[in-house]
Amino acid sequence: MPLFDRDGRRIAYLDTGGPVSVHHRGGARLRTLLLLHAFPLHSRMWEPQLTAVPAGWRFVAPDFCGFGESDGDADARSVSIEDYARDALALLDHLRIDHAVVGGLSMGGYVAFALWRLAVSRVAGLVLADTKAEADGPEARKGRLEMVTLLDDSGVESVIDRMVPRLLGERTRRDSPGVEAVVRRIAGANSPTGLRTALLRMMERPDSSALLPRIVCPSLVIVGDQDMPTPPQQARAMHAGIRGSSIVEIRGAGHLSNLEQPEAFNEALRDYLASL
Ligand code: MLT
Repeated sequence: MPLFDRDGRRIAYLDTGGPVSVHHRGGARLRTLLLLHAFPLHSRMWEPQLTAVPAGWRFVAPDFCGFGESDGDADARSVSIEDYARDALALLDHLRIDHAVVGGLSMGGYVAFALWRLAVSRVAGLVLADTKAEADGPEARKGRLEMVTLLDDSGVESVIDRMVPRLLGERTRRDSPGVEAVVRRIAGANSPTGLRTALLRMMERPDSSALLPRIVCPSLVIVGDQDMPTPPQQARAMHAGIRGSSIVEIRGAGHLSNLEQPEAFNEALRDYLASL
């Protein structure tokens, strides 16, 4: 897995359809989709998409700081979701990519909003999957702190056990137990400090609702029809708030729609990217 150095921290990322293909295409310019992962997963949750990259595209998926193979930030005092977006922008700089379509699922969507705030001119499009613009309310903040306590007292596995029933749709849990195994394998590789930082950063993230009417780039909202944490109703409201956006509701998927129904997710992505 490639790594790059960011102020003494290693950031890992997956990169498919990249510079090698540029050669093969006689130097034709590829467009980039930056894929930002959910909590408590890492970049490998995007494998079903990274293995189906449409012609003319390059998909790049970083591990956020402290997730997967990326180093944690031992000195992190900041609890800003923007820090993940800054790392993602540094990765684009490292790869000499000026503009990218930015796609995020759930926490990845929160980071996509942060990236938009920091560097709107670099965002060629937005894919907002199973996510929301609103900040955490008092109940959600309380839940984050309880999760931090669970993590500190009982470890990563306990967080995964708590989360899995809400992450996966009913149909996936019933018919595709392999997906749960994949989620557990990916999440189980994350460090407690990475998860802890993420819980605090999500808890402190700003409300992005006011951004929605200002988003003018082509945008796609995707949601699993059985998504519990960010249900279709919320996705429809986000779609209504972003002028000209489109929405795809994926049948038989919960919150991790890209892993639960990869073919339908890839079709939505392919159609959207082809429209750009
Ligand atoms: C995620 O899937 O990234 C999380 O459910 C996001 C959250 O806890 O708000």
